[in-house]
Amino acid sequence: MMADRAQIAAIPPQRGKDAFFFAKHPVIGIFRVFRPLTVFTVWMRRLDQLLANLGYCSRREARGWIQDGRVSVRGVIVDDFGAKAADADVLVDGEPLDHPGGLLLLLNKPTGLVCSHDEREGPSVYGLLPERWRRRNPQVTSIGRLDKDTSGLLLLTDQTELVHRLTSPKHKVPKIYRATLSRDLSSNLIQIFASGTLVLKDEKTPCAPAELRIAAAREAEVTLTEGRYHQVRRMFASQGNEVLALHRTMFGHLQLNDLPAGQWRELPLDSFPTT
Ligand code: URA
Repeated sequence: MMADRAQIAAIPPQRGKDAFFFAKHPVIGIFRVFRPLTVFTVWMRRLDQLLANLGYCSRREARGWIQDGRVSVRGVIVDDFGAKAADADVLVDGEPLDHPGGLLLLLNKPTGLVCSHDEREGPSVYGLLPERWRRRNPQVTSIGRLDKDTSGLLLLTDQTELVHRLTSPKHKVPKIYRATLSRDLSSNLIQIFASGTLVLKDEKTPCAPAELRIAAAREAEVTLTEGRYHQVRRMFASQGNEVLALHRTMFGHLQLNDLPAGQWRELPLDSFPTT
């Protein structure tokens, strides 16, 4: 059975909780009635746009998919690509949509890959992801970057707000790096890194206080709460030492644990609550 746009729009959104609340509390329901209306406008998306944004295909191709009967809304095959539907109600080839609410991934970045979408910069971390995720809009992007020669914990998401929040120096999200150095470490570096007065080459503002833990003669762990360009390498370089290998082990409360290099795991979208 096919449904057209008017028929789909006429089906009330399935807001079980609100309907239940409204039935039990009719007076409060006068106020609550606005909520389903809001949800209706915010979450209903045009089918061709929905498929294109989730990386299934181009918008033009999506129209073909819909006209070929590959898309259903609440069990009804739809042939109108301009129809709007809630993500949870849509099936493509009988399957629910692929992460319609968004993606948050924790990747163990191998060395040799860049965190750039510009193909001219060489092979990137995005090449590790399924093609459909690479075609999403908003784009899946890294939360901050790791250099090509740095390995370890990298978060990837299509949640723009999360990227801004977690990369903002205002939020001081701690990140832990393990560094292998070319020369023996001196304990006076601990105080220099912690001082909040260390100024990097070609910069004016000093680095925020950083914690340095010396693990072995040429092995250290550094905790930063900001993310300047090549920061760990430049902090050591400012003290006449060179970082030979750099690996990020923690981002906020998240750890790599035993995730192999080149692999990712999915995280709940609310892994970093706002309050
Ligand atoms: N500091 C660096 O020098 N490189 C990174 O990739 C991250 C922090």
